[in-house]
Amino acid sequence: MAAIALPIRQFAMKLAFRYTRLRTPAYPYLVEPVQLATLVFELDRIKNLPGSILEVGVAWGMTTRFICEHLEACGRGSERFYAIDTFESFTPRDVGFEIEHRGKTRAQVSGFGYIDFASWKRNFRGFEFLTAVKADCSTFDYSTVSPIKLAFLDVDLYLPTRNALREIYANLVEGGVLLVDDVLQPSRWDGAYQAYLEFCQERKLPFQVIGNKMGILRK
Ligand SMILES: C[S@@+](CC[C@H](N)C(=O)[O-])C[C@H]1O[C@@H](n2cnc3c(N)ncnc32)[C@H](O)[C@@H]1O
Repeated sequence: MAAIALPIRQFAMKLAFRYTRLRTPAYPYLVEPVQLATLVFELDRIKNLPGSILEVGVAWGMTTRFICEHLEACGRGSERFYAIDTFESFTPRDVGFEIEHRGKTRAQVSGFGYIDFASWKRNFRGFEFLTAVKADCSTFDYSTVSPIKLAFLDVDLYLPTRNALREIYANLVEGGVLLVDDVLQPSRWDGAYQAYLEFCQERKLPFQVIGNKMGILRK
């Protein structure tokens, strides 16, 4: 029976590959390949520094999973990795600011409302070094995860990016790195661009972008 099942299965797969889109490779990440490459490069560079790794704004966890896989593949199961998100989309305060002060429509600054904390944690229960934190990144106390050696900040809008940038940078260890997504203009998420630009200007830090949209600040 098994001897017949195998050729039938292979024939079905052949048909599926030739005549359907079921096996079309997909790119599931919200960030560019060069951003993923930079994350790996920076994770390896800061390997021996003291401190924690943060992803702030995680959505359903694609980049989180990528980072977990890399840490696990390198035997770095004793790292402290924090995934911080509201796990219920943007805050009303941040959306209101985009509409009132940045000319966005509500539809432009909506998304991620379907994510819930319990399901997210269930999806990551295999990674014991990862801690999910349900918090507003504008008011989260970063001293509780300090020192920080690598942070990937990806919360799209102006206010949370501005507020988190200040606090993360203040808790960044010497030699650490802060990566910021959506440093791109014009774009739906150009609040992140504005916040990053202002931060670099205020602190007289070099305005550097990797690929099309990832700001990078090394301390
Ligand atoms: C673009 S997604 C993150 C994508 C993720 N980094 C990735 O690469 O797959 C933006 C996330 O930021 C979160 N977010 C927005 N405002 C936030 C805030 N004030 N505090 C914490 N998380 C926030 C949203 O809930 C959403 O999950």
